[in-house]
Amino acid sequence: MTPRSYAPSQKVLHWAVAALIVALVPIALAMANLPDGPLKNALYEWHKSFGLTVLALALARILVRAARGAPPLVAGLPAWQRRAAHASHLALYVLIVLVPLLGWAGTSACCAPVMLYFTLPLTLPVSGGMPVGEAILRVHQVAAFTLVALVALHAGAALHHHLVRRDGTLRRMWPGRG
Ligand code: HEM
Ligand code: HEM
Repeated sequence: MTPRSYAPSQKVLHWAVAALIVALVPIALAMANLPDGPLKNALYEWHKSFGLTVLALALARILVRAARGAPPLVAGLPAWQRRAAHASHLALYVLIVLVPLLGWAGTSACCAPVMLYFTLPLTLPVSGGMPVGEAILRVHQVAAFTLVALVALHAGAALHHHLVRRDGTLRRMWPGRG
């Protein structure tokens, strides 16, 4: 049966993943451009830990989504907007799994160990050393910037619904509302 609203868990997971991505992209830009030193190293560690947290929350999101579904899009949208909404939501789900997986695999190959929040060792068994790691991290970077572009479009569409169309699209993803 199609639900009439998002479950509280779907809302919490949506905004937790969004907040982590908003935090870890500027961290990525800073860590890639800073000179070598303790700050750069610490930013790498936070980037990897936030990214692995996104991966765990994304998998939880997909399980809840598969079990519960999502409410239908608001009524009255033209067909192309319905298709664009469905396609972009699917692409966002794919990228929030793929981007951290690529980062994790690339770092494991070139620059082990991977530690979760400076404590739990979580290195993947990826061989090939620096050449393989660097190649995977280049794909990670392209996929990450694709994710950022899609998130910008997605947030723009949400604001358009809220401010111009004035429908309930943003409110129904907002915590605590129906
Ligand atoms: C930053 C990373 C973000 C990701 C990865 C993301 C991902 C997603 C996905 C996959 C859905 C579809 C949910 C489903 O059908 O199960 C969704 C829905 C939604 N998102 Fe985001 N989102 C992000 C940020 C944002 C931001 C910043 C806003 C608002 C400014 C926003 C507003 C919404 C709204 C309103 C919906 C509900 C759309 C509807 O029910 O028709 N999202 N998001
Ligand atoms: C949704 C999750 C993630 C996003 C959005 C993301 C985003 C990015 C971006 C935008 C860059 C490029 C920075 C630049 O070159 O200007 C980057 C680089 C990097 N990411 Fe991620 N990342 C995520 C998850 C991860 C994870 C889970 C790991 C490892 C466990 C990781 C490891 C790295 C590494 C090592 C680099 C640097 C590559 C280099 O020094 O050239 N990332 N990430």
